[in-house]
Amino acid sequence: MSYILGIESSCDETAAAVVRSGEQLVSNVVASQFATHQPYGGVVPELASREHLRAIVPVVRQALAEAQQTYESVDALAVTQGPGLTGSLLVGISYAKALSYALGKPLVAVNHLEGHIHAVLLEERQKGNHVVNFPVLALVVSGGHTHLYLAEQRGSAWVYQNIGHTRDDAAGEAFDKVAKLLGLGYPGGPVIDRLSAHGRPSAVKFSIAQIKHPDRNDPNKPSTGLPRFDFSYSGIKTAVLRHVETHGMKPAIAARQAALRGITKPKLEDYLANCDRETLDLVSSFQRSVVQDLVSKTLAAARDYNVETLFVTGGVAANNELRQQFELQAAKAGLPVYFPTRPLSTDNAAMIAAAAYPKFLAKDFAAMDFSAESGMSLR
Ligand code: KG4
Ligand code: ZN
Repeated sequence: MSYILGIESSCDETAAAVVRSGEQLVSNVVASQFATHQPYGGVVPELASREHLRAIVPVVRQALAEAQQTYESVDALAVTQGPGLTGSLLVGISYAKALSYALGKPLVAVNHLEGHIHAVLLEERQKGNHVVNFPVLALVVSGGHTHLYLAEQRGSAWVYQNIGHTRDDAAGEAFDKVAKLLGLGYPGGPVIDRLSAHGRPSAVKFSIAQIKHPDRNDPNKPSTGLPRFDFSYSGIKTAVLRHVETHGMKPAIAARQAALRGITKPKLEDYLANCDRETLDLVSSFQRSVVQDLVSKTLAAARDYNVETLFVTGGVAANNELRQQFELQAAKAGLPVYFPTRPLSTDNAAMIAAAAYPKFLAKDFAAMDFSAESGMSLR
């Protein structure tokens, strides 16, 4: 049995967790910076780094205490190397390096996106499900990413091929921006998720860009001849803005913003009391369009690449309608689909410790001079 202490600080959550042998979650602590960034309507990188500095030591101590472990008793450390905000990543990396050096323990550097994929695997193993049929198609859908990866296993390691990504905004980013422009605060995903059930999803018609050709962002790369399934969500955000303008919704939005600002932690009833039918319909129609696009493109990719299993992970995987639609459509296609539980869908360190386990077994340790890679890709 080996215990890995994972540390995650790529964006706005300071997190630490202990995972046993890649399959048992022993502790999972997440300090959210929600209150710090909320007044700005989005993550402020400078403030995020400062908050990580404040939180990292107590969060790690708490994760060890809850796991009944100590700095000395864990077998290895794991930390997110990227992608993410450089200043935020550096806090976790510097602390993990210092611990590794002082304790003489190996350190594993983990790609945050691989972490999201391993969150699914960790929980399936914990439930006793050790059978994963390859190839796996993983949709990583969060505030920073909307990526489709084909995953295969080589030995104990996983290898990845990207077959689609967003050309502009990530899906979570679109949820956040639409919520902000409707005066619903930050982060937008969870609010839109809960409000959508109270509106009519077919009230407003949106169309989302359909892109199915070689990646124009990478003209120097030879085409593989294989189809790509790219996403684009900046158009729908603009369409929501246009709807707001043409339907004269701005005064109601300003009133809502002012009312919600006066409530420390608004509840569903507070949002509902400040949303008219038109807003609820708009929110619900926006969510329906994004969900349909994510589900239909992922299932089309699954068909084209003959995959055996679907993983859906990342912050937006917490969305109720997304889960329901994936379950429905995947069942129709005869494909098993797995999600992490909601606490492991959004950023956490358990996924980092879990993804580190195969690298720990392979003794794939980080050299002490590695640094943050804000645009790190997954291979
Ligand atoms: O994975 P995550 O915690 O951080 C990143 O790596 O980006 O994802 C955060 C994103 C935010 O954009 C947030 O609005 C979105 O996930 N999100 C949701 C839901 N919960 C979080 N989006 C839709 N529905 C939700 N229930
Ligand atoms: Zn994430």
